[in-house]
Amino acid sequence: MKLNSSGCRRKSMIKKSDFLLNQEIIFFNNGSYGACPKTVFNKYQEWQRIIEFQPVEFFQKTLLPELKRSRQAIGDFINCQPNDLILVRNATYATNIVIRSLDLKKGDEVLVTNHEYGACLNAWEFWKKEKGFKLKEIKIELPLPDTTEIIRRIKSCLNPKTKVIFFSHISSKTAQLFPAEEICKLARENNIISIIDGAHSIGQCPLNIKEIDPDFYFSNIHKWLFAPKGTAFLYTRKELQSKVKPLITGWGWGPERELPSGSDYIDSNQFYGTADLSSFLTVEVSINFYKENKIEDLKKNCHELVEYFCREADKITVKKTLYNHFPDCLMMAVIEVPTKYSVIELKELLYEKYRIEVPVIEWEGKLLIRISIQVFNTKDEVDYFLKVLKEIF
Ligand SMILES: Cc1ncc(COP(=O)(O)O)c(C=O)c1O
Repeated sequence: MKLNSSGCRRKSMIKKSDFLLNQEIIFFNNGSYGACPKTVFNKYQEWQRIIEFQPVEFFQKTLLPELKRSRQAIGDFINCQPNDLILVRNATYATNIVIRSLDLKKGDEVLVTNHEYGACLNAWEFWKKEKGFKLKEIKIELPLPDTTEIIRRIKSCLNPKTKVIFFSHISSKTAQLFPAEEICKLARENNIISIIDGAHSIGQCPLNIKEIDPDFYFSNIHKWLFAPKGTAFLYTRKELQSKVKPLITGWGWGPERELPSGSDYIDSNQFYGTADLSSFLTVEVSINFYKENKIEDLKKNCHELVEYFCREADKITVKKTLYNHFPDCLMMAVIEVPTKYSVIELKELLYEKYRIEVPVIEWEGKLLIRISIQVFNTKDEVDYFLKVLKEIF
């Protein structure tokens, strides 16, 4: 691999100064909340000014056609019908809509893995108390076994009580890509509902809903696809849409509903009361940013930099790689580091002394650092981080 000092085989036209990020911090944490380019953010603020300029016209005439346009843009990007999608605030919100909507009861079982995101697990725990179903955790170690073994492991946990499998497409704590298509196929064969937490997927890994064929799939557009914070979608298989209950019931529900679209699923989920939904209207601009700047090509460089970082960091920390196979789409990864510091100590040290923003995570007794490389990160930054690791471990 030949990387120049900016970390790219082909010089990237994108710089950190194209984003609103603090330029004095080395930002290796795109994964948590994403980063929004100035051009997209300007459009977002433009929408906010349009709302304030004539709110009545905006809410009564402009909003719904614009939401439809955003759904169309996402549908085209991930290969699904725009009417199978609703725009939601974030992955946590989507998780709650889905769980609330499921007809789960005492005696039923829901499978999750030990790689799931805490807030989503909390939602499962909350609804478990309400509905009385059981949560069952499948343990999958790192490095992740191959797809055949993952499927075998999940299969061994199935029984007639299993009603749902919930898993991350790309996991948060461990930055692993799970075989979504194969897991959904197994779920279908066993009459189990598949729910995919794709919070990190759109903009990072290839995402083709038709090929994956899940029952429910959601993703944060604000993480890797450049939208402002609070922009996500929820896909629902057509046959299940009539079961989806809105978290907020308002003008989109009931016989007296406002401006019916012909789909209860869409109507009942897109009225939030008076709210600033400007971020939802920037989806097309975010996708255009991705396309016009050829992010698809630049991502290869990000991936190579992540791999380079992991390889070199493992030599410094004398820990084994946490990847048997490193999927060639990933723009984030975890390394294991010695437990010389607590999570808080290490995080503070990296941020306060070295100005590196990066998550430090505890998972299954291991101390992990998760690096994200977005298109604005450079090889010089990665080399600096490696130097810091040498100094502190
Ligand atoms: C895998 C995963 N699921 C869900 C979420 C929750 O996302 P949000 O806070 O946008 O709801 C995250 C956030 O980082 C995540 O990584």
